Amino acid sequence: MSMSAIYWQGTGKHVLTHEKFPRASRYAPEWVFKNEMGPNPLWLTERLCGKLKLEAGMRVLDLGCGRGLSSVFLAKEYDVQVWALDLWIRPSENLSQFALARVTDKVFPIHAEAHTLPFAHEFFDCIISIDAYHYFGTDLTYMGYLAPFVKPRGQIGIVVPGLHQPLPTPLPAHLAEKQAHGSTFWTWDMCTFQTATWWHDLWSHYPFFDVREAQAMPDGGDIWLDWEKAKSGARETTFPADVEVLASDENRFLTFVEAIGQRTACLSS
Ligand SMILES: C[S@@+](CC[C@H](N)C(=O)[O-])C[C@H]1O[C@@H](n2cnc3c(N)ncnc32)[C@H](O)[C@@H]1O
Repeated sequence: MSMSAIYWQGTGKHVLTHEKFPRASRYAPEWVFKNEMGPNPLWLTERLCGKLKLEAGMRVLDLGCGRGLSSVFLAKEYDVQVWALDLWIRPSENLSQFALARVTDKVFPIHAEAHTLPFAHEFFDCIISIDAYHYFGTDLTYMGYLAPFVKPRGQIGIVVPGLHQPLPTPLPAHLAEKQAHGSTFWTWDMCTFQTATWWHDLWSHYPFFDVREAQAMPDGGDIWLDWEKAKSGARETTFPADVEVLASDENRFLTFVEAIGQRTACLSS
């Protein structure tokens, strides 16, 4: 059984640990809770990076980085250079965060929209996107636009909220009902929460891009629930915790989908 804990030590220091995420467990929970914009980005990044080949000095684009938790993690854990790109969060704010984390020599905040990327083709060794790609990458042509920004054999890896299985109609009651904090979990824009098969099919249209993996995290709903529980015990959070809906779901529908692909050498075929 997975174990997440947020607790007060004798010293009065807050600690957030998870046995499945030893690297992420070393980061200060106050920093995580203050800057997260969705289920623990450090956990999702640690899981994804375990499947990518990252080497020191590589150029990585963190697409939709939010407040850049994943960008800091990439720089600190893998010694890569990170272009931390986001639309909603101002780069000056992120630069201050990166200065506090002492990574300004390796993490560069960029303000841009995912369809107008201000980079040269073949600039990056890798592109990652944590809990963001479903906002801009669900149409058939987007990967065709994005893939040229990585070098031949460059990797693209995403983690998005998704589904173990297609949702029935009508929607399961636990997703549609109001939670005690007053909000309903499921809103219409969650139509972008899709199965691994859906993502695999979406990414299978490009002759210059191989889908290496598209899978629903088998323990995704459990991890997500661990996060919501930890969040409910934290003092400062941006959004209320969704413990009820994740607990009722019992890892039946809600999970995270990880998709990883690699550019092939030739763009023209
Ligand atoms: C749920 S937040 C996740 C942020 C961060 N990755 C995290 O996990 O904390 C989604 C992010 O996607 C970014 N985003 C949404 N649409 C975008 C677009 N069209 N271009 C670039 N970024 C976009 C937003 O700015 C936002 O920060």
